[in-house]
Amino acid sequence: MNSMAKPGPRTRLAFAGLQTARVAFYGTHYLLARLLAGDTVPTRTRRTAPLPSRATLLAAIGALFAEDWRHVEEGLYPPQLDWRAELSLARRSVSYLSDVPKVVQRQRDNRHRDVVSKRGQLPEYYQRNFHFQTDGYLSERSARLYDFQVETLFAGTAAAMRRRAFVPIARYLGRQARDPLVLLDVGAGTGAFLSFVEQQYPLLATIALDLSEPYLARAQRRAARRGQQTRFLVGSAEAIALEDASVDIVSSIYLFHELPPAVRAQAAREIARVLKPGGLFVLADSIQHGDSKDFDGLLELFPGLFHEPYYASYARTDLKPLFAQEGLVPLHVDIAYLTKIISFEKIQDSRRS
Ligand SMILES: C[S@@+](CC[C@H](N)C(=O)[O-])C[C@H]1O[C@@H](n2cnc3c(N)ncnc32)[C@H](O)[C@@H]1O
Repeated sequence: MNSMAKPGPRTRLAFAGLQTARVAFYGTHYLLARLLAGDTVPTRTRRTAPLPSRATLLAAIGALFAEDWRHVEEGLYPPQLDWRAELSLARRSVSYLSDVPKVVQRQRDNRHRDVVSKRGQLPEYYQRNFHFQTDGYLSERSARLYDFQVETLFAGTAAAMRRRAFVPIARYLGRQARDPLVLLDVGAGTGAFLSFVEQQYPLLATIALDLSEPYLARAQRRAARRGQQTRFLVGSAEAIALEDASVDIVSSIYLFHELPPAVRAQAAREIARVLKPGGLFVLADSIQHGDSKDFDGLLELFPGLFHEPYYASYARTDLKPLFAQEGLVPLHVDIAYLTKIISFEKIQDSRRS
């Protein structure tokens, strides 16, 4: 990876221009959605901490992009300047905006069981409208809108926050001599992270696991367009249909805050089980209380506004012991704006007490 040519000032300008355009575009969509909601949406959660000022948010977003650029300069990945992909996502604006009134109505009514599951075997905790989104995770229509919704929720910073989860993976892969290594993405959704990883390391054997068939179908189409050979597994994080010690790297992006506490523990056990000793686990999810004190008020506001029933408990869970008890030793913690990335190493059995 370090053989990449150092990006020059024009590339830097293009990078800065694209990130600014993203924040302006998706930030405007966020404000439009709030405008459509008006002040009729009850927040449902009592806040004890203040909300961050706009200046604080913008400074934190600036720091996120500065770090993203530093990783580009370090040669961990090339600058992401795929204008065609950006425009293709931006074209979902009208579909997104026409769906907002339905989401707002659900927010007002606190209606979060507005989903139809054709598969009786989906867990009960999952059959709901996370984020009050139309159809929850259970339709093609929802899968089509998801990437736009996430970028809007994070005002155009989601892709840069996900890229940060790639940093420990790139460093780990840089230390490995053998190919092909296997990477499993748990809760892969529409495949945004996996697609990025595969572009950097085409020799990696990748597996996308998710409970949502329509989301994985979308990820599959994305992989096919890019000629990527991903394996797709419809299934749950708490019962992974893979052999013990069969995977070198596990990643999980924005999944754990959507799991009830008992399921979180089961998923941690399963991730440790499928990882090889010495393997890497990278968890990227919401920051937690105390990580960035300016944002504690946001963490209190978020779950009621966007229907995240397990988020409040997630935001106060001590993650290190949750994984340590399964033999996953924490290596490094990184904060990327509203996302925390923790990497873990699966210890050899002889080192477990
Ligand atoms: C917030 S989305 C994150 C998706 C993706 N990782 C990303 O970065 O956008 C959560 C994903 O986890 C999936 N999911 C939720 N509970 C799951 C479970 N128990 N097992 C597997 N996937 C699950 C959902 O279907 C959804 O695709």
